[in-house]
Amino acid sequence: MPTTASAPGKIILLGEHAVVYGRPAIAVPVWETVATATIMDLPAGRHCVIAAPDIGLHTSLIETPASFALALVVRLTLARLNLSPDPNWQIEVSSTIPIASGLGSGAALSTALVRAIYAHVGQPVTPTLLSELVFESERLYHGTPSGIDNTVIAYGLPLWFVKGQLPAIFTPRQPFTLAIADSGIAAPTKTTVGDVRQGWQADSVGYERRFDAIARLTWTARQVIEAGDIAELGALFDRNQALLAELGVSSPPLERLIEAAKAAGALGAKLSGGGRGGNVIALVAPEKVMAVQQALMANGAKNVIVTTVKA
Ligand code: MEV
Repeated sequence: MPTTASAPGKIILLGEHAVVYGRPAIAVPVWETVATATIMDLPAGRHCVIAAPDIGLHTSLIETPASFALALVVRLTLARLNLSPDPNWQIEVSSTIPIASGLGSGAALSTALVRAIYAHVGQPVTPTLLSELVFESERLYHGTPSGIDNTVIAYGLPLWFVKGQLPAIFTPRQPFTLAIADSGIAAPTKTTVGDVRQGWQADSVGYERRFDAIARLTWTARQVIEAGDIAELGALFDRNQALLAELGVSSPPLERLIEAAKAAGALGAKLSGGGRGGNVIALVAPEKVMAVQQALMANGAKNVIVTTVKA
């Protein structure tokens, strides 16, 4: 019998970049988009195959280089479970998460894979172990990731995250809706994280002050979300955005999307993730979703995903 497992996309609500410097961040899963992995047994003696039919990939595990993140994750998981490094499996992956758009598509695929392997051999896996295995593949892409992406995807719940600590799951008092606009601009996280590092090296006092300001408003955001004060959360998005712009990770196309969303009635908007390109998130009251979505599309968004964070 084939075994299938899935994992959601994710979005960072507040605290990106500062989280790399030990400050807290808040992230939520985006269950409207998912990555899926399916494992089928092949006849005995066949090599393990990794296939992604949507992108025409079909490769045998033993021939795949270590720099290929999915193969790395499969190898690590097999080793962790003391299984053969070349099981007679066909592993198929697919995803509805747009790639390279800040929704964690790579981490979600890796998470679905690890989950599918554990399920296929009938072993339970905790979110902590899942997240730990996927973190290794994140390192290939991002260099020095904080670990927030793999953690929120492994838990599949809203999280309060501080690097190197166990995350805290927390529950919003009220559901809230976000429009996630993809700018269509590829901006590798590794580059923006590297640029912030250069800025910090040149002006550590100024950058530390901004990281502290981001940490304070992220704390307030958690309280506001737990109290259900969604309008106040919008104002915190705006303040976080201003500080991200000061860190040098905003850009004119992102500012245009943010302004358009707010002009159409969003309660607040900011870039999410690495910045420069990637995503903008807008906090939107349900009756304004359509207008904000249209405004984002008319101002350069390539795609808009609407997600509701559940209470
Ligand atoms: C990227 O999704 C978020 C950053 O804070 C980098 C990281 O946390 O590793 C920009």
